[in-house]
Amino acid sequence: MGINKNAEYPMSDFKKILVSEEEIKGIICRIANQINENYAGKKLLVCGILKGAFIFTSDLIRQIKIPLEITFIKASSYGRSSVSAGDVKVIEFSDLEAYNNFDILVVDDILDSGNTLNYLKKYLKDRGFANIDFCTLLDKPERREKEIYVKYIGKQIENEFVVGYGLDYNEKYRNIPFVAALDEKIYTI
Ligand code: IMP
Ligand code: MG
Repeated sequence: MGINKNAEYPMSDFKKILVSEEEIKGIICRIANQINENYAGKKLLVCGILKGAFIFTSDLIRQIKIPLEITFIKASSYGRSSVSAGDVKVIEFSDLEAYNNFDILVVDDILDSGNTLNYLKKYLKDRGFANIDFCTLLDKPERREKEIYVKYIGKQIENEFVVGYGLDYNEKYRNIPFVAALDEKIYTI
């Protein structure tokens, strides 16, 4: 796919666009339809993982046409690097007690090693959640270290470091409306 030369973004930082805005819209529609069916009549709590999933979560919930409540959790495994450190921490989860009788759908930007979601599954189980499912926009299956079942996956991608649509490198590029592979020159200098 060619790079849009008219875009206002620093396109020279990217190797290629991996998921365009149009494709993201299609993915969200497909997943939202499944969620609409699967959670009809249930009490649904959508839990976005900060910061990476904030854009995906907010676009997704606007296509979900059944009642839901929303919260965010801050988990961290990468820090300021392009290689996962492996040790996951939940930094903040404020209002959990109120949601004990809800089905929880955890939304993340990308499934990589699986460490984050694996950790969160135990974390939520320990706090009384019985029905826990996961949704990620992207999946890098080659990188998996921990087994985790993710029910809703937007798109599988190659093992490349990607940014945009909420995903960052050193906190940059989150505002780009598509997902792009970051050029190696950015993280080797
Ligand atoms: P995991 O715990 O290794 O599965 O990593 C999940 C988290 O790592 C995601 O929520 C992202 O924040 C981050 N991550 C993994 N791969 C990428 C990437 O290619 N670009 C940006 N962030 C990534
Ligand atoms: Mg993240």
